[in-house]
Amino acid sequence: MLTYKFGNLMQKNIGSHGLPDDFFENNRELLAEIHQKINEGFNKGDFGFMKLPFEQPELDRIKKIAVDIRQKFKSVIVLGIGGSCLGALALHQAFNHPFHNQFSSPQIYFLDNVDPELIQALLDVIEIKKTLILVISKSGKTAETLSQFLLFFEKIKRAGSPKEQIIIITDPQKGPLREIAQEEEFVSFSIPPEVGGRYSVLTPVGLLPAAILKIDINALLKGAQTMAKRCQEIKNPAYLYALTHFLLLQQGYNIHVLFPYVYALRGLADWWRQLWAESLGKEGKGPTPVKALGVTDQHSQLQLYMEGPLDKVITFVTVKRFRSRLDIPIHFAPFADIAYLGGHTFNELIYTEQTATEAALTKAKRPNAKLEMDVVSPFELGEFFYCLELATVCCGLMMRINPLNQPGVELGKRYTQALMGREEYQNERLELTDWFFNLSQDEV
Ligand code: PA5
Repeated sequence: MLTYKFGNLMQKNIGSHGLPDDFFENNRELLAEIHQKINEGFNKGDFGFMKLPFEQPELDRIKKIAVDIRQKFKSVIVLGIGGSCLGALALHQAFNHPFHNQFSSPQIYFLDNVDPELIQALLDVIEIKKTLILVISKSGKTAETLSQFLLFFEKIKRAGSPKEQIIIITDPQKGPLREIAQEEEFVSFSIPPEVGGRYSVLTPVGLLPAAILKIDINALLKGAQTMAKRCQEIKNPAYLYALTHFLLLQQGYNIHVLFPYVYALRGLADWWRQLWAESLGKEGKGPTPVKALGVTDQHSQLQLYMEGPLDKVITFVTVKRFRSRLDIPIHFAPFADIAYLGGHTFNELIYTEQTATEAALTKAKRPNAKLEMDVVSPFELGEFFYCLELATVCCGLMMRINPLNQPGVELGKRYTQALMGREEYQNERLELTDWFFNLSQDEV
């Protein structure tokens, strides 16, 4: 079961920089107001992700097609970016061998970049005839995904069969990808219109890649259901995560770090970073989310977290049990710097390093908390996804911003399309030519 441990955010453990010990009671009313808003919004159809643990009309089809894909294809390439990639990638990294593609089938690749070197490198290693392309885009209009789609469509048209090798996941009705799917008779799945991109991991966006990779998607949904039920009470991990981070944000703690001490959860931190940033960063407000990875970033970020500005809240993500156990052998007894390690396990070492870092931060009076799982399991990831999605909405409502939109990314998209020659954006092209390209660019 996922637990949120927040004692080290409070004054009793870290002194006056922390939250008052009665912060929950003092904010019970605020939470009740937000809880009501969330329920009202949900009833109006606003927070579509909240129904996903309970409503999955395409689940059987997903499972069936996943079996077919595993039998037929050597590789699967996911074309998608942001919310259309990060959840599935997090699931892959959590449950598959870190070197999966070296010895497992189907091999899987997530192409969330348009760097030509990367795309060419992928073309070099795959066998196009034996590759399935999963094109994922809620809007069906994202330049990165569509350009990749054009490339793979062309390659498959020449060497294989687009109808057999391309699957589209997009809005049920709107957008060019939906029309293309219909025209070309591609197999397709729908993303419910009321579920936003970064909240869509429990739609076919995350579930189909997960099922292809043999991840237990029933357990994933069961975990999300369990968390959803826990969140009917006011005192729940999602609201507490949101409230503590919101209150600390108001005290100037505007950098929020997620610090998994589990290598398999590095992708989960990337997923959370996008969710927290795109949902909460607007109207001149918002925390800056940072991903760190234990133990690696102890040797990269920790100095800053210990002694830098008092503007960070650190949340460890830990497990009580790792899925492997590995001994550290005993050698070189005369050397004190090495001898103490032998006879222990790597499990003890990583656990101890996390505890030691937590203790050091607490001693330095730096707010730190913990999201703890028993073990990395589909059930607990289901809990995690739902918990952090709800926490994001809750925090956004406390900040009085809309956590579901992302108006700030639109201008850059328009400029890209203008510069790539799209007719409707002629004015933007002129604007850039008259203004931006004439700005003096000082350089050395
Ligand atoms: O959360 C979001 O809405 C975004 O991160 C989108 O997921 C991302 O921009 C990709 O959009 P789309 O799925 O429409 O291609």
